[in-house]
Amino acid sequence: MKTELLPFSEQSAVKAAEILAHGGIVGIPTETVYGLAADARNEAAVRSIFEAKGRPQDNPLIVHISDISQLPPLVREVTPLAMKIAEKFWAGPLTMIFPKSDVIPAATSGGLDTVAVRMPSSPAARAIIDACGFPLAAPSANLSGSPSPTTAQHVLKDMNGRIPLIIDGGECSCGVESTVLCFPAADRVRILRPGGITAEMLSELCAVEIDPAVTSEPEKGAKVLSPGMKYKHYSPKADVFIIDAHGRAFENWCIAHADNRTTALSQDSREHDMFRCFGKDPQEQAHRLFALLREADDEGAQRIYVEMPSKEGIGLAVYNRLLRAAAFRIVSVDDEQK
Ligand code: TXA
Ligand code: MG
Repeated sequence: MKTELLPFSEQSAVKAAEILAHGGIVGIPTETVYGLAADARNEAAVRSIFEAKGRPQDNPLIVHISDISQLPPLVREVTPLAMKIAEKFWAGPLTMIFPKSDVIPAATSGGLDTVAVRMPSSPAARAIIDACGFPLAAPSANLSGSPSPTTAQHVLKDMNGRIPLIIDGGECSCGVESTVLCFPAADRVRILRPGGITAEMLSELCAVEIDPAVTSEPEKGAKVLSPGMKYKHYSPKADVFIIDAHGRAFENWCIAHADNRTTALSQDSREHDMFRCFGKDPQEQAHRLFALLREADDEGAQRIYVEMPSKEGIGLAVYNRLLRAAAFRIVSVDDEQK
């Protein structure tokens, strides 16, 4: 199959909608990461997403809508708290989990009785959903296990020959996937995956719990609330290590433990050519993380050392993705020097 890459326009959105209406799949931009979209109601179309990505069948997909009026048919209940959160944070990088209606096939929900729904803010994503007139199931448009795509070129690299069309909407502004949350009680939310809508922002509306799997490795065989958390994720080919040191201490440690196939992501720019500046601001780190991991792979890096990010705000999302990319390897420099 030849994969076409078209810049986003009214016409290319219509072309994408035609393919999607016939059960095809299309790479689409969103403000978080690029998605691999199909008609969320069409079981066969959704199955071809899993095939193109090589994704485990029990890992459910997020359903994307462009207007709040599209939510009720997909779900059995929307609580007052969910409505309040939707009013404040939609459209935006936030996904909520609801009991699903019969409109959503088991292929989309990974066999669960629930469905994850989000309303993206990206004008291109919204125009494509509007042109379709039906909700789109869309996981991140990477091959399963590799870093999520934040440019159309990343999607092309992973999906060339597997899908008919990619719509190029430029670089994703946020750069990490949406916050995923569920409702353990009427007055509280639990964050299953941190993202652009942060715990701090949500706590202005209600009590917020952070699922333990956000910052620690789920035990083998343990039941996890979000199936995606049990898979190895976001990994470049290189081995990633989070280094728990900052500034000069980080720089010195990297230089002492590097060879010529090591890349290091530092928060300040550094002279040694192994370092790539990852930024100090968590927002900037989120924006650049996946592209930097992919670049390190393209340069043939075997190891990537990353300066420990902050866990505040969207920093928690950066830390959560890095932990998985690093298979939970954190090097504590102080311990080593004792
Ligand atoms: O920003 C995003 O959310 C992007 C863009 C394309 O919208 N999509 C995305 O999809 O990141 P994906 O499939 O890569 O990640 C979806 C996550 C997975 O961890 C999955 O297990 C979880 O959401 N999830 C989906 N439906 C769920 C459900 N019913 N219950 C619990 N977790 C669910
Ligand atoms: Mg993904």
